[in-house]
Amino acid sequence: MSDTVARRARSARAPATAQGSASGDPTPVLSMRGLVRSYQSGDRTLEVLKGVDLDVYPGDMVGLIGPSGSGKSSLLHAAGLLEHPDGGQIVVEGRDCSVAGERERTKVRLHKIGFVYQFHHLLPEFTALDNVAMPLRIAGKPRMAARDRAKTLLEQLGLGERLHHQPAQMSGGEQQRVAIARALANSPKVVLADEPTGNLDPATSEAVFKSLFDLCRREGVAAVVATHNMELARFMDRVFGLRDGHLEARDLG
Ligand SMILES: Nc1ncnc2c1ncn2[C@@H]1O[C@H](COP(=O)(O)OP(=O)(O)OP(=O)(O)O)[C@@H](O)[C@H]1O
Ligand SMILES: [Mg+2]
Repeated sequence: MSDTVARRARSARAPATAQGSASGDPTPVLSMRGLVRSYQSGDRTLEVLKGVDLDVYPGDMVGLIGPSGSGKSSLLHAAGLLEHPDGGQIVVEGRDCSVAGERERTKVRLHKIGFVYQFHHLLPEFTALDNVAMPLRIAGKPRMAARDRAKTLLEQLGLGERLHHQPAQMSGGEQQRVAIARALANSPKVVLADEPTGNLDPATSEAVFKSLFDLCRREGVAAVVATHNMELARFMDRVFGLRDGHLEARDLG
């Protein structure tokens, strides 16, 4: 991605506090308030998140940085309704998921949130096409419509020639692109990506990051991306650092 493109993308949304975008956008697609998470380690309690607040607006591209162990994965897993925090509120498109039952949380997870892990977590015995079509089928889309959408996404990610390959028959970068397509399959409101390029060499890392960025932009999907790579974090509209259990806005210049 050229610097100009990145800067233009960033300036579309001026940096703001974790609770507000300077662009005056409407309702956040994802809102966290007072998120608290601690872990028990022997007789010690490790407080990882000590009251995190964050609003993510439609189409917002948010970078999340912080040293290893600062709580990036803990935050994303709670935000993605994969785990329960110990306290605080998580609101997805106006729906308070912190008080919702498991059935409701599963529904929100399926339709509103896409998750990309550091390791692709694709189903090994299924093709790229079937891996991406899977969440669409689970959401009740007819088979052909699901395959059409999956094919379109994979083609947009440059994988038109890999539709029928299984994960083991693809490179790491290709596998990660399939995982990105899968996360976007049901047209979620927000994609949460936990070091999506952390397992790739630098050149592939940038290419895959750019694919994620461009596809989210094209589909109008917001993203929160945890990364250790400052050069990649720079591409995002806003960047926050996790420090001592709290989020701080960062200006990476
Ligand atoms: N299930 C668990 N039980 C106990 N401690 C945990 C558990 N999960 C995470 N932790 C601890 O919580 C802290 C935050 O972990 P987390 O995985 O959220 O950090 P991170 O910022 O994602 O780190 P990295 O950059 O290495 O992925 C770490 O010190 C970790 O050891
Ligand atoms: Mg992590």
